[in-house]
This record gives sequence, C-alpha cells and structure tokens, in this order.
Amino acid sequence: MCGIIGAVAERDVVPILLEGLRRLEYRGYDSAGVAVIDDKDCIDRVRTVGKVAELDGALKQHPLAGKTGIAHTRWATHGKPSQSNAHPHICRKSVAIVHNGIIENHELLRKSQTDGGHAFTSETDTEVVVHQIYDYQQQGKGLLDAVRTTVADLEGAYALGVISNHDKARIIAARRGSPLVIGIGIGEHFIASDVAALLPVTQKFIFLEDGDIADITRDSLTIYDERGEIVERPLKISQLSADAMERGSYRHYMLKEIFEQPRAIAETLEGRLSGDTVLEQSFGPGAKDILDSVKGVHIIACGTSYHAGLVAKYWLEAIAGVPCSVEVASEFRYRHPIARRNSLVIAISQSGETADTLAALQEAKKLGFGHTMAICNVPESSMVREADLALMTRAGPEIGVASTKAFTTQLTALMLLVVVLGRRHGMAAQTEIKLVEQLRSLPRRIEEVLTLNDAIEELAEFFANKHNALFLGRGAQYPVAMEGALKLKEISYIHAEAYPAGELKHGPLALVDAEMPVIAVAPNNELLEKLKSNLQEVRARGGELIVFADAQVDMKSDSNVRVMTVAPTEDPIAPIIYTVPLQLLSYYVAVLKGTDVDQPRNLAKSVTVE
Ligand code: G6P
Repeated sequence: MCGIIGAVAERDVVPILLEGLRRLEYRGYDSAGVAVIDDKDCIDRVRTVGKVAELDGALKQHPLAGKTGIAHTRWATHGKPSQSNAHPHICRKSVAIVHNGIIENHELLRKSQTDGGHAFTSETDTEVVVHQIYDYQQQGKGLLDAVRTTVADLEGAYALGVISNHDKARIIAARRGSPLVIGIGIGEHFIASDVAALLPVTQKFIFLEDGDIADITRDSLTIYDERGEIVERPLKISQLSADAMERGSYRHYMLKEIFEQPRAIAETLEGRLSGDTVLEQSFGPGAKDILDSVKGVHIIACGTSYHAGLVAKYWLEAIAGVPCSVEVASEFRYRHPIARRNSLVIAISQSGETADTLAALQEAKKLGFGHTMAICNVPESSMVREADLALMTRAGPEIGVASTKAFTTQLTALMLLVVVLGRRHGMAAQTEIKLVEQLRSLPRRIEEVLTLNDAIEELAEFFANKHNALFLGRGAQYPVAMEGALKLKEISYIHAEAYPAGELKHGPLALVDAEMPVIAVAPNNELLEKLKSNLQEVRARGGELIVFADAQVDMKSDSNVRVMTVAPTEDPIAPIIYTVPLQLLSYYVAVLKGTDVDQPRNLAKSVTVE
C-alpha cells in the first residue's frame, strides 16, 4: 500500500503535498516524508515516524518550500517503521523518489549497487530504485530515460514519483501494478495514488495504465506506454467533492460511515429498480448476453469484501438457483484452479485496487474462466477497468480502515445480481417482487436499527476488560458473525472468532466461560429454533450471551443473557440489517479501549501489495 503524491507548480507545493498525504493516510500511516527542490536547486527532505500530523509538526520546526515536490505515507513492508526507512529516498542529493508497491528483485539489485559503491541508508526494497536511476543519469541519460531504463530492470509492482535537481521543474511518474493518477491543474500538474488526495486542487484526472511512464512539467504532460509509444489516456472529471471526505461533527469516520448507510444503500439502488423489478440495463452494455451465459458464479475477494461474497453464496444458491463458490483472492491466485467456462468470476472490492483481488481477477481471465465482473466502490479503479462488467456500489469515499458502508452496499448490489440471475434460473416472479420491496425498504430499516446506537454504546462497557469473544450465526448470518468478529479484532484488538452456531459443540464450546462473551445474531427464520438450542449450550456452561434478536422472537434478557431487539425483518435482507449493530458494538468497544478507531495499528485500508 503506501500513498504517494507529487506536484509541479508555480507556487510552493508543500501545503498541497501535506493535505494530500492526510487524505492518503488511510493507505498507511506508520511514517511519512516529503522532499522538494528548493530555490537553490537542492533537494530538501523531512521524514518522521508516525502519522502525517508528526510530519506536519516537524515541518513547523524545519520549514520546507519548493515548486516541485513529492511526498509519501508509508505502510511498512521491507524494514520497520523508522525515519531512515521512510520515503522519499534520495541518492547523492541528486534524485529523490517515492514508491508504492514491492520490488521483488531488490536483493539482487542491492548487491550489484553495493558492489558499485552505493552506501544504503535504509532496509527498504525501494532504495535500489533511486540508486539505479542515479546510475543511469551518470551514464548521460536524462531523467525520463533514466527512469525508463530503470523500470525495465525492476520486477514487482510500483507506482513511482521521481524528481531530480538536474531537472528541477519535472516529475517522472511510472506505474505497474499499483495505482497512480495524474491531476490536471491550471498551469500545474500533480500525481497521486488516489484522486482523493488531489480533490482540493483539481477534479480533472488522467489514470495511468500498467506500464505507462509520464513526463510531467508545469505546462506539459506526455505519457508513454510500455512500448515507449506516446499515448493519449482519457481525461476524467471526478464527481467527488473535497467535502465528501470531511468527518463533519462525528468523532470518527467509522461512526460517520456507519450512519451514512441508509443513504449509501439508497444511492446504490438508485436507477436500478423500476416498479417491482430490477433494471437489467443498469448492469451496463453487454450485460444481457453475459448474464444469459452464466451457469455458475465464482467470487474472489479479501477481508470484509470476502464476507460479502460469503453471504451472496447463500443467496445465489438458495434464491437464484445458481451454484456459487467463494474464495479468498490470495489463495485463488496461486492454487491453479480449474477454469469453468460458464462461470461468472466476480471480484468484490471497495477500493478496486487490492493487489490480491486484482491479480486473482487477472489470473481468472488468463485461465479461461467465463466472463468477469467487478463489484466495486471506485469507478476509476483497476478492477473496474479490468472486468467485463462493473456493478458499482455508491457508498461514497470510505475513509475508516474498518469497512462498514462498503460492506452493506456490496450486499445490496449482490442482491440485485441475485435477482437478475434468478430470473434466468427459474426463480418465481413473485420472489422478485418481494425482493425488490425488501430492497426498497432497506434505508428505512437501517435507520431503525441505528436507533440501537445508545443501547449498544452502554452494552460496550461490558467488553472493556474482555480479551476474547465468540460470534455465532447460522445460514447467511454466519458470514455476518464473521464480519462482526473481524470488526472487533480490527479496531478493538480483542481476539474474536466466528463460528456457525451448529459447529460450537465441535470444539469452541471448550472455550466458553464467564470471561468469553458470546455474541449471536438471531433473525426470525427457519434456523431460529436450532440457533436457540446452540445458545442454550452456551448458557449451560456459564457463558455470557449477547443476542441481537428479531422483536417477534421470544427471547428475553436475564442473568447471563442480554437481548437487543431488532425490528422484524424478512429473511433474505436480514444479513444487511444485522450487520449494523455489530459494527456499532465494535466501534463503541474500540472507543472505550481508546484505540485509534479510524487507523488501527498495523492495518491499512487499501492493500496494494501482496
Ligand atoms: C483491507 C481493509 C479491509 C478490506 C480489505 C479488502 O484489509 O483493511 O477493510 O475489507 O482490505 O479491501 P477491498 O478494497 O478490496 O474491499
């Protein structure tokens, strides 16, 4: 991951770079740095361990100014978070670079460069890149050619921003496998890992393709493709406003994003429903033929998006009658799966840039699976460009590292897909009518379940000194329990596991005692009685139960059972509704524990490395 930004302008770019870094911080936040070419044509750099706020503080002590600069916020892969490992990396006061990605052949390059007389100052894989560029410059190449020759020597993934004091009003940018966008200003240009970083200065963007190298000055931009030919890449105008990324009066982005879910879901549905049907045209041109050919679905994803896929498996098989398998992308990409030609491969991803999911999608295409679809929240992302079809969630920017509104909008989009596939596989017309009605009711129902906020905040106190928790669900609520456990671990650092409730007696029951809270989701469905029996097994062993239960279910709180009532909900959409109280629970537990809710330790939002 890591976030990179750069600017070449007529004004001092340091404030632009810093604001951009704040907006990129979700990509990594263990150290940060900035380098500019100053008015004496020297490269000046400041780097700090910790968040961008630390860098800001350091810049107050040692101000930098310059019209050409690059900056970086890091998520450590090679070498611990430290000042010397932080980017930008510099070679002999002459070239500076920022890098997102992993250089796989760095050891080999490091050895030959050490033999050639370079003294390394960091443990990073990145440092070899800057020395390589310098060496090519020494052979008489200009900055563009030096970068071009260098990237040909690299194996792995990179988005690079390069500056040199021999060419003081120029940035060279290069991309392979990691995202990079160019922002077009008036008489100025920018680069960044994500449009979000540049929204305060422009809404016009050009997205680099893999293999592209861009030669950027204040008033010129030339893009070369991987064969070295000059290419035109389309200009896109972002619809996002800089304010969409503000936290407003909420204490954390995560809470804001939890409360944005009714609107995010309404927007995901907009223009996709008509009367009591799902509009197939909203899946894009060419969708009909592709959907007609689908005999099965294979979902690949990571993290929270993987859990969305697991819910969809229950829906696709039980409601649409379509076989579905779901796999963690990092496994899929290396296990040599057997291609099924009539399968629709669906990559689910908030960012559309997760390295494992993107590579799995590319691998699926290579292996000869049928068509591909991305369910994604970022229209200009690599996955959207890679897949045959894109079904966009419209959650708006999600900043909190722990995903919330992206998950519920993914489920909403997946339910739309269930309907259009179900139609082709014998699903009753009446089912579509009911599902559409339920989809339309989602924003209102989420508003309802959000009224549990205060009660959940109180309930969280019970967790403050717990070290472990078990989450239980059955059927499509099992992945909801998994998502609940993931949220709790991610932001409160409490060890949490999820089990299908029926599996409890095959091992995890041994863990149950008064110190192990057990959280269960209990909608009113055909599995309810079975779930209740599983919960009795917990009570009988002195476990403390917290149950989110449908109001029509006969469950009451007593000495070691706390029941939180959820308004009655039809079964198919219940996973979307029951997700919300679990998000709130982990949020309030994390707040009580005083963790960094939006940027939990060791994690990053967009994982663009393997
Ligand atoms: C990281 C984030 C998770 C996210 C996962 C997949 O681990 O911290 O919140 O679910 O990546 O990200 P994606 O953008 O592909 O949905």
